[in-house]
Amino acid sequence: MASIVCFLLLLLSIARSCHGGITSPYVRKTEASIDMPVEAFPPPEGDNAPEQVHITQGDLIGRSVIISWVTPKDRFPNTVTYWPTGKKHHHKRQARAVTTFYRYYNYTSGYIHHATLNKLKYNTRYIYELGRHGSTRRFSFATPPQVGPDVPYTFGIMGDLGQTYDSNVTLTHYVSNKKAQTMLFVGDLSYADDHPLHDNVKWDTWGRFVEKSTAYQPWIWAAGNHEIDYAPEIDEHTPFKPYMHRYHVPYRASHSTSPLWYSVKRASAYIIVLSSYSAYGKYTPQYDWLKQEFPKVNRSETPWLIVLVHSPWYNSNNYHYMEGETMRVMFESWVVENKVDLVLAGHVHSYERTYRISNVRYNITNGMSTPIKDPSAPIYITIGDGGNIEGPAYRFTEPQPSYSAFREASFGHASLEIKNRTHAYYTWHRNHDNEPVAADSLWIYNRYWYPEEEHSSASYMV
Ligand SMILES: [Fe+2]
Repeated sequence: MASIVCFLLLLLSIARSCHGGITSPYVRKTEASIDMPVEAFPPPEGDNAPEQVHITQGDLIGRSVIISWVTPKDRFPNTVTYWPTGKKHHHKRQARAVTTFYRYYNYTSGYIHHATLNKLKYNTRYIYELGRHGSTRRFSFATPPQVGPDVPYTFGIMGDLGQTYDSNVTLTHYVSNKKAQTMLFVGDLSYADDHPLHDNVKWDTWGRFVEKSTAYQPWIWAAGNHEIDYAPEIDEHTPFKPYMHRYHVPYRASHSTSPLWYSVKRASAYIIVLSSYSAYGKYTPQYDWLKQEFPKVNRSETPWLIVLVHSPWYNSNNYHYMEGETMRVMFESWVVENKVDLVLAGHVHSYERTYRISNVRYNITNGMSTPIKDPSAPIYITIGDGGNIEGPAYRFTEPQPSYSAFREASFGHASLEIKNRTHAYYTWHRNHDNEPVAADSLWIYNRYWYPEEEHSSASYMV
């Protein structure tokens, strides 16, 4: 009898491990963090000194960079001087910015400049200078290697950052991670809209806060709900007004008609950015664009296919539960057919990673609406755990769904180290640990070149 009980217990434990998701019992804290004060982010010294410097990829293939900055008083100088490191003075070149500003209720922005540096050499560090006389500021960035199938490259991943003391821990951790070369940011930047009248000064302080990273490496931007800034009660009717003035992206290079959805190739990755808060139904511009985008991806050129979107399609937290469902219904079959490696999302302020599952068989009459294991499906990562003012999302649905591999209500960031066309090493770093500690990690196998099953290692705290 005892042996039968033991056998049944063994079977039970195997069944548990087969469905095997982990809900980490560790919760960072349940109360919301507060914003760092405006005084924590003074403008740089000097008359009309350039501030809020950030860069992003400026073309489809990584030979161009958009440099953006703000000058508070004067429209000029609106030029950037740049040169490759180690070269003499005559290699200096200059690019002129497109300059804009906007008004939002009772706020008027400084002069916002966007300069595009073209025909850069691959794999080269450039120095660039903004401002003049006593207010000159100097920064640098590295261009990526030429696009190719086995080019190693490391991306950071972050979302829902905000500007609290927790946000500061997240960003400080990230900056200390010397491997990451480009950030994949999945939306919700400043959280200005959480303040009275969408206090746009918070957009300025956020620009200063993140400059220590954004001035030195490209951040690939996806827009979240906190970028919408739609506020008819104060006569602000234009969605995404502050965001689109401040953050330019190279959307025309991928034949998009909106900065809210676009693609870039970088090293061995093809990155598709989508907008959860723009129309995506059939016949809409975003739908039509994405439909014609997938056939352009050549996995012999860019083996790694990554999608960025703000609202997650698979997420088992009570917070924002199923908000991404309609977009999943529209696009999941394309993502599976095209063997997307990773879908990265934010919005939910905790961390979650799924197994490779899909739910694309349902046709309104057959009742087949359960996610199933699918080697062609992406891993879905929800990483809206940057540490913003709204606090963590610590209530998960129970029991943990079979698709959920690991989930934890902590703040943090992740990195993706692409090694070659078949292997990439993914790690998630919770703020509470020292930076080198990976609280969740796995070797990710490319869906096109090596579609084997992955095995993760997660470490949770009690
Ligand atoms: Fe969000």
